[in-house]
Amino acid sequence: MTSSLRGRLFVGLTAVILLAGCISGAFSYLWAFDEAIEMQDSVLIQVGSLLQSGSVKSDQTLRGVDADAEVDVVELGTAPRGRTEEGQLWSLQDGLHVASFTDRSMRVLLRTRLDGSRFAVLQPTDVRDDIAGNMALRTLLPITALIPCLLLVTALVIARSLRPMVRLAGDLDSRRVDDMTPLPLAATPSELQPFIASINGLLQRMKLLMDQQRRFVADAAHELRTPITALGLQAENLDSVDLPESARERVAALKEGMARTKHLLEQLLALARHEAAPSGDAVVVPLDRIVKDVVADVLPETARKGIDLGFELIEPIATAGEPVMIATMVRNLIDNAVRFTPPGGRVDIGVLREGSEAVLQIEDTGPGVAPDDIDRIFEPFFRGSRPTEDGTGLGLSIVKRIVDRLGGSVVLENISGPALTGLRAIVRLPAANSCSASIRTHATG
Ligand SMILES: Nc1ncnc2c1ncn2[C@@H]1O[C@H](COP(=O)(O)OP(=O)(O)OP(=O)(O)O)[C@@H](O)[C@H]1O
Ligand SMILES: [Mg+2]
Repeated sequence: MTSSLRGRLFVGLTAVILLAGCISGAFSYLWAFDEAIEMQDSVLIQVGSLLQSGSVKSDQTLRGVDADAEVDVVELGTAPRGRTEEGQLWSLQDGLHVASFTDRSMRVLLRTRLDGSRFAVLQPTDVRDDIAGNMALRTLLPITALIPCLLLVTALVIARSLRPMVRLAGDLDSRRVDDMTPLPLAATPSELQPFIASINGLLQRMKLLMDQQRRFVADAAHELRTPITALGLQAENLDSVDLPESARERVAALKEGMARTKHLLEQLLALARHEAAPSGDAVVVPLDRIVKDVVADVLPETARKGIDLGFELIEPIATAGEPVMIATMVRNLIDNAVRFTPPGGRVDIGVLREGSEAVLQIEDTGPGVAPDDIDRIFEPFFRGSRPTEDGTGLGLSIVKRIVDRLGGSVVLENISGPALTGLRAIVRLPAANSCSASIRTHATG
């Protein structure tokens, strides 16, 4: 048996419809057959009465009786004729009988006129059965036409009745993984409501669990930041201490490790803060200003690496969001471009308006991302199949979540050409009207 509810309902109802159709068809066939036989008997009786009253002669064509019906009249005379077939008919009493005549089974009506002469009206039983069978078959026509219509209506009704369930599944499927808003109970069939209530309960418990987890990550990252900063300071202090060269090397490695741990904590905190931030505190943010501020922050690093970082195009454009988050998103993308571009390379930045969108484009001349990695690049902790630089693998997942939350999109594509490699990151955000008086504008730095 099929495991689909729709399939089961359809198979079950089809079986019921077919069974009902067969039973009613069989009964109506039998009834119609009997009726047709009785009707033919009454025709024989009528013919008999006409002949008996003398209004029709037996050698006349019987008017109103179909030639196909093969109704025949045999005059038997006034006295029996021995052992002939007529004689055998004579031996029957007046009325209806079934008898053999000319080697055929016949329905026979015997009548005696007032003058004592007798006659028989005959009709072959096989002809009668054929006629009755045909008539009875015709009564099956409406039923056989009705069955496909009923099956079609059943399929439509089932599909319509199950539509709320299909819609519900579609709603759940198209949700973002972290979307825990309850499913609407209104306008759903009452049978589905306990089911929806259970799903909503589950969603609520999952949301609680996720909130707890996020809070734990945020708290842990926050709590760890202070001791790590203190440890970093202690390591810095060692610079002023007179140490042998081998110890200095270890201290340098220690400081690097501290910086990496601090970076991981910062990224975890950014992720946790973003997840925990209530939506709805958006303000108009000048994207171009934020990008300029981030670029100013990374200039020392680009100068050290000998990377040519510049603006290809920068238009004043604003988007709506939380300024710290937008800055985190921009910083992560520019940081990647600078970090993965080898010394002597280029990073070109563009901020522009395209229709109703604010577009941020960052192109670098680094190695790009392996094609197999592109699909997984936004997963947390994914650092590519050939990680070269230090990193947490959290940067792009933070970028993706922030952009999704702002109702935008982010795409990474490899730049390839003759003797040219690199990565192009394109972020599209809904542009905001910076003149809007109701929203406070903000610039970082
Ligand atoms: N501009 C780029 N060029 C080449 N590879 C990149 C670039 N940006 C990202 N990647 C690849 O994608 C991986 C994931 O990037 P992501 O920003 O998420 O993490 P990360 O940079 O390793 O760590 P973090 O951002 O926390 O410092 C990187 O490890 C790197 O392999
Ligand atoms: Mg990164």
